[in-house]
Amino acid sequence: MTKNNNLLIITSALPYANGPLHFGHLLEHIQTDIWVRTNRAMNKNCIYICASDAHGTPIMLKAEEEGISPEDLIEKVTEQQKNSLVKFNIQHDNYYTTHSEENKYFSEHIFNSADKKGLILRKKIKQLFDDTKGLFLADRYVQGECPKCGAKNQYGDNCEICGATYEATELINPKSIFSGKKPSIKESEHLFFDVAACIDNLQKWIKETKLQSSVKNKIQEWFIDGLKPWDISRDAPYFGFKIPGYDDKYFYVWLDAPIGYIASLENFLKKEKNKTSKDLWGEKSDTEIYHFIGKDIMNFHTLFWPCMLEAGGFKKPTNVFIHGFMTLNGKKMSKSKKNFLLVDDYLDVLKPDLIRYYLASKLSTGVDDLDMDLKDFQKKVNTDLVGKFVNIASRSQGFLKKDGNKLSQSLDLEIIDKFISKKEEIFSLFLSRDFSKAIKEIMQLADKANQYIDFHKPWELNKNEDNLEDVKKIASTAINLFRILNLYLEPVIPETSEKIKNYLKSNQSLDDLSTNLINHQIDIFKPLMFRIEDVEINKLNEISQNG
Ligand code: MSP
Ligand code: ZN
Repeated sequence: MTKNNNLLIITSALPYANGPLHFGHLLEHIQTDIWVRTNRAMNKNCIYICASDAHGTPIMLKAEEEGISPEDLIEKVTEQQKNSLVKFNIQHDNYYTTHSEENKYFSEHIFNSADKKGLILRKKIKQLFDDTKGLFLADRYVQGECPKCGAKNQYGDNCEICGATYEATELINPKSIFSGKKPSIKESEHLFFDVAACIDNLQKWIKETKLQSSVKNKIQEWFIDGLKPWDISRDAPYFGFKIPGYDDKYFYVWLDAPIGYIASLENFLKKEKNKTSKDLWGEKSDTEIYHFIGKDIMNFHTLFWPCMLEAGGFKKPTNVFIHGFMTLNGKKMSKSKKNFLLVDDYLDVLKPDLIRYYLASKLSTGVDDLDMDLKDFQKKVNTDLVGKFVNIASRSQGFLKKDGNKLSQSLDLEIIDKFISKKEEIFSLFLSRDFSKAIKEIMQLADKANQYIDFHKPWELNKNEDNLEDVKKIASTAINLFRILNLYLEPVIPETSEKIKNYLKSNQSLDDLSTNLINHQIDIFKPLMFRIEDVEINKLNEISQNG
């Protein structure tokens, strides 16, 4: 474990501001939040940044559909996303939006710096245009026959049947999905970022950075294929920031989206501290920068983003942590296929910690997809959290009642010390994002705590008044084991941990791990967590199938 006091800037990818958050988003925010909380528990100074990603054609179209301005749509959706994530106890320091003054400033700054360095190329390209709708057609807005195999109804970038990739202008019998009409071809000048010119800096960054091995391999493949200039402009009509020097050209949403991390930080610092993003994220700063993202947006974060940062005089990411996709009950999550769960719908049925725990128990360091099987979720929570963890307290507390819920002076230190000595191992696993292994270790300890109680049989001893002290010692030891496990689980289940601390009348943090609770009055026991019932799982299944 590294021992330094560098500031950590940590981000989750910025969800598009065209709709409420679903379970895939939640997976990412929970993964990031557990990591942030782990670092905070270890006294690291962290700033956790996010925002809604507000630009692009889909948002423009969505606002049009709702009959409101894009600005109003963004405001509404950002607020909604922010509220949902707060309910899951995601501890962002700032949840901003990319449609902000700060982001406009930094986008222009990075673009201008890149332009001065000769990294912006200008080239005329031909594009499909829907004359009826008055819109340039992105690949997903045009369908036609595959130029290679002739398959019908293929989109403008690749063929789902033969796998061929091509330009939208190559499609046979192209049709706009808006008007159903044949698009015209229009020529216009586009601006490109010269990614190939940055190859040396990229290679250096990749060498120095402990990216996941599959990620490194993928990047090497891109290098071998050759780095093409990246199109960063879009012609009007578009919703975004105008490119300096042009009246009808906008930055492509993916140009200003990651810059939104810097802008959200700037906005946070303005409110909270007397610092700027340049101070904290500048080339020469000691800050560590970590991005959590899904595998679909890897190229933007490991190829284009480091180039932009270099051009703008900012530090490149210390690491980019990539996770796989979440499937629901074994199938791809999809609204149209009626297999879809919104985060707010979940909250109508169950508590946030339960899903936080389940996802933690499945997350590891790889980029593999992860299945959210609702039956498995029920079983895992009921077996581990209710059956093992909380059970330690519920089966011990009764033996303390006689003496007014006061823990004894004497404890079985041998087992307690064993539990305490696991801290380093468990927190290293959390730090390396191997949450599933960390959870396994913690649950093995929970098993040991239950075995300790089984072995000493306090219910037998309790039959004889003379054993009162022994019984108290066993129960007080068990409660201290429970206290330790609670501190280990705190990054994962913060709400429950808080409740348990109230029950224990103790506000210990991880630093207090070795301070046992002795001669200490705890509260009257109330159930700390409930089993997930079949009706609740059925309800979630129903909601997910309603699309
Ligand atoms: N707006 C961009 C990100 C810009 S970051 C500078 C975007 N938005 S998104 O809403 O489509 O996705 C946000 C994050 O959620 C991405 O990291 C994406 O990989 C992740 N997920 C979206 N669906 C997902 C699953 N089904 N499973 C896991 N993560 C998924 O991309
Ligand atoms: Zn084809």
